[in-house]
Amino acid sequence: MTIDYPKIIQDLGAEIDPQRNEGQVAQYIPELAKVDPSKYGLALQCLGGDQYTLGAAEEKFSTQSIAKVFSLALAMLHGGNAIWERVDVEPSGTSFNSLVLLEYEEGIPRNPFINSGALVVADLLVELLDNPKGTLLSWIRQMADDQAIDFNYAVAASEESCGHRNRAMAHMLKGFGNIHGQVDEVLNFYYHLCSVEMSCKQLAQAFTVFANDGCQATGQRLLSSQQSHRINALMQTCGFYDEAGEFAFRVGLPGKSGVGGGIAAVYPGHYSIAVWSPQLNPQGNSVLGMESLESLTSKTGMGVF
Ligand code: DON
Repeated sequence: MTIDYPKIIQDLGAEIDPQRNEGQVAQYIPELAKVDPSKYGLALQCLGGDQYTLGAAEEKFSTQSIAKVFSLALAMLHGGNAIWERVDVEPSGTSFNSLVLLEYEEGIPRNPFINSGALVVADLLVELLDNPKGTLLSWIRQMADDQAIDFNYAVAASEESCGHRNRAMAHMLKGFGNIHGQVDEVLNFYYHLCSVEMSCKQLAQAFTVFANDGCQATGQRLLSSQQSHRINALMQTCGFYDEAGEFAFRVGLPGKSGVGGGIAAVYPGHYSIAVWSPQLNPQGNSVLGMESLESLTSKTGMGVF
């Protein structure tokens, strides 16, 4: 069956109204609260090479928790299976910054995408790498095949200045022995990870690796098949926190959201896609981002289920 992507993307664009003002731009990180709520971008990257875009597809935004997929991949590359002794692979059913389960489960985060899990991944990278921030940036640039990707230092500093929940979480993890390094160093790395700025085009390009069995579009292998499959499994079950079920139900693709309003998702063997709209629902996921992806998979009739 041939899918008419140009028409589908055009129709999707006509349906989505970025002026609709449903949801709210993230307020708890002061730098993110300044973002124009009406921004909207989308980039669909087919494995065959075709690319379709809408709106501000080349404008960079704060990837936030989407970047946790890159740090996890890097930890799997450098640390093998070590991370799975310290982080579980189960959906949490709680918000991304919840502390509740961490106390009950004695410092073992439910999965690597909730903040506590991403902090343990950050600790592992800080422990393993000589230059954690530099190696992380090189890795993301390699995945996206783009040297122009960078941290936004103002966003990292902004979150560091008010990240009381993350600080509490990191200290609790340290108390349970699941942070090995210095809490402040791990937090600083984590905030820089979350501050990485990318456009929809760059994100779709980087996520090609997860859509393409661990290989770039050129065929160059960056991850093993198993690593790529496992990351997709985790995105499917844990990528949207307490809305992972909703996203699977409405969209039916592995994906990852961030409080910057981005969502990146993959249809393995077919395409990767990134969409950006900063207005979030109460679970911290982009309202129009979810709607856009639901519209795409409904119109194509294709998804992993
Ligand atoms: O730690 C935080 O709260 C943010 N840097 C990232 C949270 C996030 O993106 C959750 N995703 N929807």
